[in-house]
Amino acid sequence: MLTKAPMDKIESLNEWLGEQELRGLWQGKAALYREPDPFGPARLWKWDTLRAGLEAATELVPTDYRDTRRAIHLSHPSLSGGATNTLAMAVQLVKAGESVFAHRHTLAAMRFVIQGSPDVCTITDGEKCVMERGDLLVQRNWGWHNHINDSPEHAIWIDCLDTGLMSMLRTEFFESHSEEKFQMQRSQVDSAIRTPGALSPPGQAPQKLSYKWSETLPALLDMLPEHKSPFDARVLEYRDPATGGSTFPTFSCWIQMLEPGEETAAHRHTANHVCYAFEGSGTSEVEGEEMVWEEGDFFVVPNWSWHRHRNSSNKERSIIFSCTDRPLMEAVGVYREQAR
Ligand SMILES: [Fe+2]
Ligand SMILES: [Fe+2]
Repeated sequence: MLTKAPMDKIESLNEWLGEQELRGLWQGKAALYREPDPFGPARLWKWDTLRAGLEAATELVPTDYRDTRRAIHLSHPSLSGGATNTLAMAVQLVKAGESVFAHRHTLAAMRFVIQGSPDVCTITDGEKCVMERGDLLVQRNWGWHNHINDSPEHAIWIDCLDTGLMSMLRTEFFESHSEEKFQMQRSQVDSAIRTPGALSPPGQAPQKLSYKWSETLPALLDMLPEHKSPFDARVLEYRDPATGGSTFPTFSCWIQMLEPGEETAAHRHTANHVCYAFEGSGTSEVEGEEMVWEEGDFFVVPNWSWHRHRNSSNKERSIIFSCTDRPLMEAVGVYREQAR
């Protein structure tokens, strides 16, 4: 017998389709999107609040609690977790004398150091990466890594991972190392010293695991004025020397500097940015909303949101570190940017 769908009313047909786990295209929005919606509004997280949370977690949460780390994530209220729909950002604290178990995951991860020392390091793929203030460490996916704090102070850094993307793709794999105190150190010498710049043994691709602040700051200060961006002022991307491309295939890390009193022009783009005020203070206007930030604060500039930045001090420079999913948008051909 031939199946028949209701033909009396469109509502009856819609209902019948639903019962068959089907849906008519006409049941969605009346028109296709003319342009994307931001995933949510801009958001600001104050360092003072994060610091208080970390201080309490330092007392209450051990480093191996429930197979995880002592890290506090930015949790955007428009999402079920994460700072943007693609990226997660957190602040992690490792106490003096602590070491954190080794693990690996398919998520790409980076660390930007807020408080470090020559006696704090991450072991990544067996290489020792020293963590001093302003250093950036990269952790490509599926590499073993652990952290060691042999200094007398807390070590604090930012973690950013492509969690939202990997979760959407259902490609999250995670593995803890079987040895509790595993260090897997190939050499006691910091990888940034063993393989500076793009130097590597003949036939081997250069592998940049850390970008030292002692190199990043002079590069920012000495940028040629004609290389400044009208939208981001002095801005540099941490590029992978092996590919010449972005920090990771899925996201990139940027560092930017605003001179005292400097104000940028407004633009918007399909990529998200999660920003951290590393130095100074300022205001970022996102879709008409003013976010007033000081050193240590975080804020998110959602996709396709008009934004501009201003250094509110007439004396001090401001420096913003950010992570963006722009490489992902470019890879799939949907990066777009618009200026007013
Ligand atoms: Fe990890
Ligand atoms: Fe921008």
